[in-house]
Amino acid sequence: MSDKVEKTDSSCGCGEAGGSGGFCKKAGRNVLITGGAGFIGSNLVRLFVNKYPEYRIVNFDKLTYAGNLANLKDVEDKPNYVFVKGDICDFGKVLSVFREYSIDGVIHLAAESHVDRSIKDPFVFARTNVMGTLTLLQAAKECWNGEWEGKMFYHISTDEVYGSLGFDGTLFTENTKYAPHSPYSASKASSDHFVRAFHDTYGMPSIVTNCSNNYGPYQFPEKLIPLFINNIRYGRPLPVYGKGENVRDWLYVEDHARAIDLIFHKGRAAQTYNIGGFNEWKNIDLVRLLVRVTDRLLGNPEGFSDKLITFVTDRAGHDLRYAIDSSKLKNELGWTPSLDFKAGLEKTVKWYLDNQQWMDNITSGDYERYYEEMYGRR
Ligand code: NAD
Ligand code: TYD
Repeated sequence: MSDKVEKTDSSCGCGEAGGSGGFCKKAGRNVLITGGAGFIGSNLVRLFVNKYPEYRIVNFDKLTYAGNLANLKDVEDKPNYVFVKGDICDFGKVLSVFREYSIDGVIHLAAESHVDRSIKDPFVFARTNVMGTLTLLQAAKECWNGEWEGKMFYHISTDEVYGSLGFDGTLFTENTKYAPHSPYSASKASSDHFVRAFHDTYGMPSIVTNCSNNYGPYQFPEKLIPLFINNIRYGRPLPVYGKGENVRDWLYVEDHARAIDLIFHKGRAAQTYNIGGFNEWKNIDLVRLLVRVTDRLLGNPEGFSDKLITFVTDRAGHDLRYAIDSSKLKNELGWTPSLDFKAGLEKTVKWYLDNQQWMDNITSGDYERYYEEMYGRR
């Protein structure tokens, strides 16, 4: 996206916006959040429903294996919240939601999000992440019909589109060239390009953010942290891919939701912002810390679950290192992560142990069968 396109400033002239083109805060606005029943989406919906009683928040979600309305029990009866079950690839349905709820702003999170699944079945990633995003963009374009004032299409992307770094201390910036390796990151990269193309071609006000690995409550237990907490709890193996040398930058999910809120309202239209924790961890070091914290909170002696750590065949095309430079966001909008990683991890482990029923409800269903197919053991 170019910095120069001024016609896409989405502020509505009421003086409430950040003065930079972000989504103007005023009563009666209708915000569509896609994928709001998933991990990050449910944390974001909770934040918006509670913080903006003057908005109507429409959560549009297909409820795939990763979508769970139990994540939103505490806000489902709020008067400013609406849930619509639907597929972002269904143009007619998406357009009818835009029209019925007079949608002014979109925060688009719905996606297939797990790299291992994308290696097994890339087609569903192309369908949902690429075609689904294009369908949403096309519906927004048709509904908004060139009246861009007060509108915003905010697309949530990932740092994985930038590819893989070496151990040389380099960080991904907003200017790093896209070099996706997995079918997941390739599909997200493609969707990012479509969002920018709709800005550059039609003038649609849009923002893209690329965030690092999130952790925290309500994450589906196929991802490293919740999967391992649950396996420790049940004394099951902890499958570390390869030698556990890969590095990820971890951010607490509520800090990501805070960043989205800030950027949606105060960010500059047509911009990209990186969001990260400045918090790099080698997988094996993170796993050892996780084992220590979980054992302690379970009342096990120190070292009790170390024996569960099992090195398994590496993920195909496994990216070595992701690390985000989020200084643009810090310098422009003053955002920094609020939580130190050790405190965040402790809080997260505690949440999963306190919400074992939530976990058991998920793992007793289709996911159990998927896990067996993936790993051939339980
Ligand atoms: P998730 O897998 O937990 O949730 C995805 C949600 O999208 C689910 O509720 C699912 O039902 C819904 N969904 C899937 N296909 C759909 C479709 N066709 N139509 C409507 N809804 C559909 O994902 P997450 O971890 O919360 O990630 C949310 C977004 O953030 C994704 O776009 C992901 O690429 C991005 N992201 C995630 C992370 C991370 O660490 N989890 C990091 C950076 C960016
Ligand atoms: P994951 O949570 O799947 O996120 P991503 O692939 O988007 O980074 O994985 C985080 C890291 O942990 C990644 O390097 C892969 C590794 N990993 C394992 O070693 N074992 C596992 O069982 C899983 C799910 C991930």
